[in-house]
Amino acid sequence: MINQNGNDIGSERGFGRDIDRNLRQPIILSAKNITKSYSQGAGFLPILKGLSVEVTKGESLCIVGSSGAGKSTLLHILGTLDRPDSGQVEFHGENLFEKSEDELAQFRNSKMGFVFQFHHLLAEFTALENVMMPLRISGMKPAEASERAYVSIERVGLAERSHHFPNQLSGGELQRVAIARALVREPEILFADEPTGNLDSQNSLIIQNLFFQLKEERGLTMIAVTHDAQFAGKFSRVLRMTDGQWAKTV
Ligand SMILES: Nc1ncnc2c1ncn2[C@@H]1O[C@H](COP(=O)(O)OP(=O)(O)OP(=O)(O)O)[C@@H](O)[C@H]1O
Ligand SMILES: [Mg+2]
Repeated sequence: MINQNGNDIGSERGFGRDIDRNLRQPIILSAKNITKSYSQGAGFLPILKGLSVEVTKGESLCIVGSSGAGKSTLLHILGTLDRPDSGQVEFHGENLFEKSEDELAQFRNSKMGFVFQFHHLLAEFTALENVMMPLRISGMKPAEASERAYVSIERVGLAERSHHFPNQLSGGELQRVAIARALVREPEILFADEPTGNLDSQNSLIIQNLFFQLKEERGLTMIAVTHDAQFAGKFSRVLRMTDGQWAKTV
C-alpha cells in the first residue's frame, strides 16, 4: 500500500478499519526505508531491505512471517533497541536516531515497553522487585516504586505471588510479571516479540487476552510479532514479512 507521501507502507488487511483508523488517529510511529545488514565473512548479508511502515496511535499491529525473515530485527529497530544502517524512525514526527545513546535510552525507558519470548526477569529479585526496577532506574524512591509496582502486579492477577522469586513462578506467571514490568512506567507503545512462544495454549490465551485488555484500558499502541495465527487474528492489522520486505499479500 502506498501512502500520500509515496512510501510503501506495506500490504494491509481490513481496509475499512484501517481507513477509519487513519482518519481519526495521528501517526505515532513511522519508519521509512529501513535497511539493516549483518556482516557475514568478508561481506554483508542484507536482512531488512528498505521497509516502511506507519503506525497510528491506539492501533494493534502484528508482524508475521517465516523464521529468519527479519521480524525481530525490525521490531528492535522500531523500539530503538537497535539502529538501522539507513532509514528513519519517527515518534510523533521526531527523528529518533538523531538522539545520542543516553537520550535514546531515556526516551525508550519512558515511552516504550517490551515483552519478549523469554521473560528476562532477574533471578535474584522477587516479582515485585523486578517490576520496581524500571521505576528505580528512573530515580523513583523505593516506597513509591514499590507501591506502583504492586498496582501493576495486581493488575496482571499476581498480587499473591509478588514476593515469589522467578524460579517459584510458572511460565505463564513469569510472562505476566514481564508484562507488569513493561507497563509499570506507562509507556505509549508496547512491543512484544513472540510473547506466547513459550506457553501452552491455555496460558497463551490468558496472555493474549491480557494484552488486549491492557491495550484498551490504557489506550496503548501495540506492535507484536507472533507465529500464532489465532493470536495474529486478534490484531487490527497484520503485515507479513518475507525476506526483509513486506509481502504483497498477508
Ligand atoms: N546480531 C546478528 N548478527 C548476525 N546475523 C543476525 C543477527 N541478528 C539476526 N541475524 C540474522 O538476521 C536474520 C533475521 O533475524 P531475525 O531474528 O530478525 O528473524 P525473525 O524473523 O525474527 O525469525 P524468528 O521467527 O525465528 O524469530 C536471520 O538470518 C538471523 O540469523
Ligand atoms: Mg524473531
